[in-house]
Amino acid sequence: MKTITALAACFSTLGLLPLAVLAESAVGPPAVSSSAFGAVAGRPVTLYVLRNPNGVVAKIMDYGATIVSLRVPDRSGSMGDVVLGFDSLSGYLAKEPYLGATVGRVGNRIAGGRFTLGGKSYQLATNDGPNHLHGGIRGFDKIVWHSKVVDGSSEPAVRFHHLSRDGEEGYPGNCSVDVTFTLTAANELHIDYSVSTDRDTPVNVTNHSYFNLRGAENGDILGHVLTLHASRYTPVDATLIPTGELKAVAGTPMDFTRPTPIGAHLPEVGGNPGGYDHNFVIDGAPGSMTWAARIYEPTTGRILEVLTTEPGIQFYSGNFLDGTLAGRGGVAYRQHMGLCLETQHFPDSVNHPNFPSYVLKAGETYTSHTILRFSVGSE
Ligand code: GLA
Repeated sequence: MKTITALAACFSTLGLLPLAVLAESAVGPPAVSSSAFGAVAGRPVTLYVLRNPNGVVAKIMDYGATIVSLRVPDRSGSMGDVVLGFDSLSGYLAKEPYLGATVGRVGNRIAGGRFTLGGKSYQLATNDGPNHLHGGIRGFDKIVWHSKVVDGSSEPAVRFHHLSRDGEEGYPGNCSVDVTFTLTAANELHIDYSVSTDRDTPVNVTNHSYFNLRGAENGDILGHVLTLHASRYTPVDATLIPTGELKAVAGTPMDFTRPTPIGAHLPEVGGNPGGYDHNFVIDGAPGSMTWAARIYEPTTGRILEVLTTEPGIQFYSGNFLDGTLAGRGGVAYRQHMGLCLETQHFPDSVNHPNFPSYVLKAGETYTSHTILRFSVGSE
């Protein structure tokens, strides 16, 4: 395939694209291309376009190592964008709720932005009422990452790198962070994180894509049918900090152990604004790749499965979307028009000794793997 792509490039420069090669290109050889996508404080931003042989296209930019667009087929083969996003960089530079971004150093909340590690107390930036959220005021979502196409990969892949300095948003230690996105021929987007540090520090990096398998222009996600491989969740207080309890989902609106439309019990969840914004405890052995979630969208037949090595997954039903954001194509992103499935360690773990630890020791490497697998089918 590589040779054919190279040949096609060579012939097309000469204006002599042979028919056989044209046919091959029509099915779409795997490829990565890139283009300029504006600038942040004078620093150019690059948009990478990853394509697989089935016509699936993932657009990912180096500002925030952000998934900008993800086009996948429905049951009739029609392609549609299944993530919320903006047409241009300016949308991402305005205040917006982490659309598609890589979040960290610690994704989700830390109570009061405070923790103690190795006998020392730390105060992080607070940016969500009293709490620290998604890495603080200038988290990983607001950085222009270094980026490169991964050489020698048999599938289209791009890697982003950020050196998060000692003291950034209050965190200890210089952290070297790599995030790699690979689009496979099996219509999977693999997201692989690798972090090392020179001082002990909490690390919990994730991706904050908002999915809508109908396409955001076609309405909300309340009819999406969700299954979570989770028989427990972590209840939260009024500021969305876990109480520390691991509670059974059975008999509560949190029970997605069997396929259930998201809207079926959403009004019973409460909260202000109401809806799901909870961490679910994935059944199985943390550290090994485990099936965590499945969404089936009945009108298009699209299915998204999420697999991860993480022990938890934040299911967020887009409660804070309020119609003030004009997204792709000028569509107003109203409440519940997208949902997030953020693979993670449990929120505020650094203050809960009974939760699996996300403290990365100096000299060690944190790795985390998530697969977004797209297909079509039935419930
Ligand atoms: C996460 C949080 C939500 C909200 C969104 C961004 O999913 O859990 O409470 O902060 O990010 O709006």
